[in-house]
Amino acid sequence: MSFEVAPRSIADFHHRGRRLRLDSGSGPWLFEADGTRWLDLVCGYGPVIIGHSDPEFLTLTSDHMAKGQQFASCSTLHEMYAEGLPDIWPMGSCAFFKTSSEAVTAAVRISSRLTSKKGVVRCGFTGWHDVQQSPRIAWHLMPQSPERVRKFVPNMTLRGVSGDEAVFDWVDLRPDSLEELLNRHGSLIGTVVVDTYQEELTDIELIRTAVDLCKRHDVTIVLDETKTSGRVAEMGFTEQKSLQPDMVVAGKAIANGAPLSLLLLPRHLGQYVEKNRVGGTHSKERFGVAAAVVTRELMSRRQGYEIFPVLGKTWEITYRRAIESLDLSNRVTVHSVLGGAGLDLRLAAPDDTHEGRSAFQGAFATQGILSLVGHPSFFDTGAYPGGPRLVGTTRVRCASEMENQHRPADVMI
Ligand SMILES: Cc1ncc(COP(=O)(O)O)c(C=O)c1O
Repeated sequence: MSFEVAPRSIADFHHRGRRLRLDSGSGPWLFEADGTRWLDLVCGYGPVIIGHSDPEFLTLTSDHMAKGQQFASCSTLHEMYAEGLPDIWPMGSCAFFKTSSEAVTAAVRISSRLTSKKGVVRCGFTGWHDVQQSPRIAWHLMPQSPERVRKFVPNMTLRGVSGDEAVFDWVDLRPDSLEELLNRHGSLIGTVVVDTYQEELTDIELIRTAVDLCKRHDVTIVLDETKTSGRVAEMGFTEQKSLQPDMVVAGKAIANGAPLSLLLLPRHLGQYVEKNRVGGTHSKERFGVAAAVVTRELMSRRQGYEIFPVLGKTWEITYRRAIESLDLSNRVTVHSVLGGAGLDLRLAAPDDTHEGRSAFQGAFATQGILSLVGHPSFFDTGAYPGGPRLVGTTRVRCASEMENQHRPADVMI
């Protein structure tokens, strides 16, 4: 008897019917066990920001780890990391988790106690914990896309929640729809959780308006910066645009792929972390924090947050040229997102379907590029087109397979 890794389609990349056997990574590249090389624009679905197996990252992280893996409570390393967080409130508290699903759950638990209301409004993907789930929304598609609201898997039997714990989805990103939800279900709703990536589908004023609306309705507003933290700025749009939510969730890129997520609260709410018993065995583990300390140091020393806007523009132009040379400009548009640390390819009807997006993603795979369509692709600081690591070695042959016509349109990166 032996075990196999259970298939999980979102994490499994296939190419021409073959499941990729990813074995190692170096900078922006991934390698399979047989040596096949891929340009990685998935970055572990967002966490990898410095690049794979960066020698300096590895050395500095293992220096911290020489002191031990996990103690009876949070360590001096946790304190050092928390003290260096940006001042999004004059005084803040920071709780540590391994995943953002946990941190969002913690935020909702604390807010339910504060407001004595268990209902939640959700905007954007906020984690896989069942209690957050109602029929799945394709949160990364544009608000007007007919595919945005769909049952992800028909008859999927998620436990979900109902009654006074109901989850309401704010899908269309219109402020009046949020206000209507708050007016109509105000007796139930204690928390609004907004994935700040939704800003990329409209603009930052949407998030600012949501924060104001929630404050006016006495509802806790949680900004979920999981995808944006460590990419647009260490604490995402909250830091970059001086937003004033009640709580912030950070995750993914803050630790370059090591498991770490944070719940940030103003100092006077910090006591609720203990009172509500949020956190588990590994919340005090040191590896994620060591990686986050080093990620902060390297992003600052290597000017990561200054590199991304330039890097993102370069990729956007590269993709746009490929699209134009194939006469596909009326079918697909390319958008630099996440302050240049991500790229979103948006298909127009009739291609904006699950099949259309998969075919498009497959077209990139034929060129040795692992990227995402219907979800932003991500860059690490080394993925510089024309930079020393990539020059002359990669081509974007955009979408020729989607059209099923083999018109070559190579664009040198
Ligand atoms: C905005 C947002 N919140 C929460 C999560 C869940 O994070 P995790 O997978 O670390 O539980 C994700 C994951 O993609 C996310 O994008």
